[in-house]
Amino acid sequence: MGLGDIIRLEDVTAGYVVVKQGIKSIAREKRVVLRNINLRIKDGERVVIIGESGSGKTTLLRVILGLLKPFNGRVFVIGKDIYSLKWRERVKVLRQIGYVPQDPYKALNPSVKVGTILEEPLEALSISERGSRVKDILRLVNLPENVLNMYPMELSGGMRQRVLIARAIIHDPEVLILDEPTSALDVSMQAQIVNLINEIHRKLELAVLTVTHDLGVAQYLADRAVVLYRGEIIEEGDIDSIIKNPRNEYTRLLVSSY
Ligand SMILES: Nc1ncnc2c1ncn2[C@@H]1O[C@H](COP(=O)(O)OP(=O)(O)O)[C@@H](O)[C@H]1O
Ligand SMILES: [Mg+2]
Repeated sequence: MGLGDIIRLEDVTAGYVVVKQGIKSIAREKRVVLRNINLRIKDGERVVIIGESGSGKTTLLRVILGLLKPFNGRVFVIGKDIYSLKWRERVKVLRQIGYVPQDPYKALNPSVKVGTILEEPLEALSISERGSRVKDILRLVNLPENVLNMYPMELSGGMRQRVLIARAIIHDPEVLILDEPTSALDVSMQAQIVNLINEIHRKLELAVLTVTHDLGVAQYLADRAVVLYRGEIIEEGDIDSIIKNPRNEYTRLLVSSY
């Protein structure tokens, strides 16, 4: 690992172009979801983005993942301005991101066996290298080898989440990004997944960006926390000081209800 930023957003304003169907006309309209976002994630750092539902968390991740070009501003991944790169180069840079999408029940293709799901990001390796990498990662995420022959439907929510995490880290990315990794799981499973994420952070020495609406989860997963409110960053800093001494009105409300 070198020093520096894995991810850097500069003055990003982003959202969607929505189509409005009128009686006589169709109009395209910009819906701004994120405003003036500045964000840095350093090598090996654990950052949590806290925000209520609809605040723009998933939209922010889409921007970072190269899936949603901002209206304004720039997005750097390992120092490269991703939206100015040619497609092939962009794909290469974005391989440095491992991504765990929001809902473990929807995120896995039900007709593909776990073994195939995990080998897919490893197409550059030989078959025997793939096999040993898959075994190592299964051990790390604490899944038995017999899941390789199973379909996602045969797995519990917690096991699916472990499969998704395994898939995200199997090709050894520089940063792991998780969108509400615990919100679909029951409480006992939530603690296990949080512990697993921290164990992965320690062992693989990667940066971890987690999005959550849960302050408890944030407390366990953040070196630094960023509070997103209606598409703007309203507060950021050390998670314990934010909880002890929130400066912003909305953060205070969030902390008092926690
Ligand atoms: N594909 C889309 N087209 C138009 N608006 C969208 C789209 N996806 C999300 N939005 C809107 O963007 C806002 C933020 O959504 P999202 O980023 O999913 O929030 P969060 O993940 O924090 O719950 C919401 O108002 C939502 O309705
Ligand atoms: Mg979301």
